[in-house]
Amino acid sequence: ERQPLNDQLGRPIRDLRISVTDRCNFRCSYCMPKEVFGDDYAFLPKQELLSFEEIYRLTKLFVSMGVKKIRLTGGEPLLRTGLPELIKQILSVDGVEDLGLTTNGLLLKKQGQALYDAGLRRLNISLDALDSTLFGKLNGRGVGSSNILQQIDYANELGFEIKINMVVQKDVNEKEILPMAAYFKERGITLRFIEFMDVGTDNGWSFKKVITKKEILELLQTVYELDPVDKDYFGEVAKRYSYKESNSQIGFITSVSESFCSSCTRARLSSDGKFYTCLFATEGFDIRDLIRNGLSDAEILKAVSDVWGNRTDRYSDERTEQTAKTRKKIGMSYIGG
Ligand code: GTP
Ligand code: 5AD
Ligand code: SF4
Ligand code: SF4
Repeated sequence: ERQPLNDQLGRPIRDLRISVTDRCNFRCSYCMPKEVFGDDYAFLPKQELLSFEEIYRLTKLFVSMGVKKIRLTGGEPLLRTGLPELIKQILSVDGVEDLGLTTNGLLLKKQGQALYDAGLRRLNISLDALDSTLFGKLNGRGVGSSNILQQIDYANELGFEIKINMVVQKDVNEKEILPMAAYFKERGITLRFIEFMDVGTDNGWSFKKVITKKEILELLQTVYELDPVDKDYFGEVAKRYSYKESNSQIGFITSVSESFCSSCTRARLSSDGKFYTCLFATEGFDIRDLIRNGLSDAEILKAVSDVWGNRTDRYSDERTEQTAKTRKKIGMSYIGG
């Protein structure tokens, strides 16, 4: 029987977030600002990306270390050609209990059916505003909110379990909190309010631009009665509440005001095969290099286990205005949140 693999703070590895591409068809200012990700931006060439075969092999390896939950991210994961094939392969791995995908939703009408047929059941879809002009500005591509709302309806009809992610920024989209809540409550879809985080090296973050869970909850409570809901499992990121006399729920992701590092069981794999033990890590561990140099499963497992075993990350516990500005961090679109 294998011993559970814990890091230096006693946290096991449970979740793996796999980024399948560094590209995106949106240009959200807090993630891929147009000034940085312009027409001449050098995205990773195809041969730099992990192949499906390599991802499948690593999935098996990570599951043997204790991973049970897998999430596919990007950039925008639906831009990776052939994704349904990868989904089938991941779901065929014994020990994978849960698979989810985080998307901006723009390609769901085109690809939703194939994703569902491949066995995917859970989608987290990003939407920061209902106001179409504002949403078009936020996504940097002028895509209206009705486009994404239709994609969400379509995915809902296919039978996906859907959650909506809304990154809340002060003076940017805080007026959208109540309309978004009303819209998704009505439809029985869980809306999650995400505190704006200082991801990447310069996304214009400061504490002043954060609206905390407490503020959002107080605003919602002027209209609704809400009851806290128990966590589904150890290490669940969102704090959930349910509306009284309705089955709808909301959630909060409180990386800034109530950090959750002490129960962080998440590892991340970039699309070019680097292993990161924190969303705010400075450097990753190059697993692709090991694979492409012909190392055996046992050798790779040993190396990756050592990295996790030495892990001490707790960035959100330690965040200050200073670390937000000066610490070198990997890009959000590169690692997928
Ligand atoms: P499920 O709970 O499985 O539905 O997924 P999730 O909420 O973990 O994933 P999702 O991709 O929807 O992420 C929602 C938000 O949580 C994003 O803004 C992520 O960047 C953030 N997030 C997820 N995991 C972590 C984490 O370990 N640390 C921090 N600081 N933020 C995280
Ligand atoms: N702070 C909080 N959440 C963010 N996301 C992207 N950038 C940030 C940020 N700076 C969210 C996206 C998506 C998820 C993967 O991460 O909106 O829903
Ligand atoms: Fe694309 Fe998501 Fe980043 Fe927006 S937040 S630019 S949709 S990867
Ligand atoms: Fe985990 Fe790092 Fe997020 Fe803390 S900041 S919860 S250690 S990924």
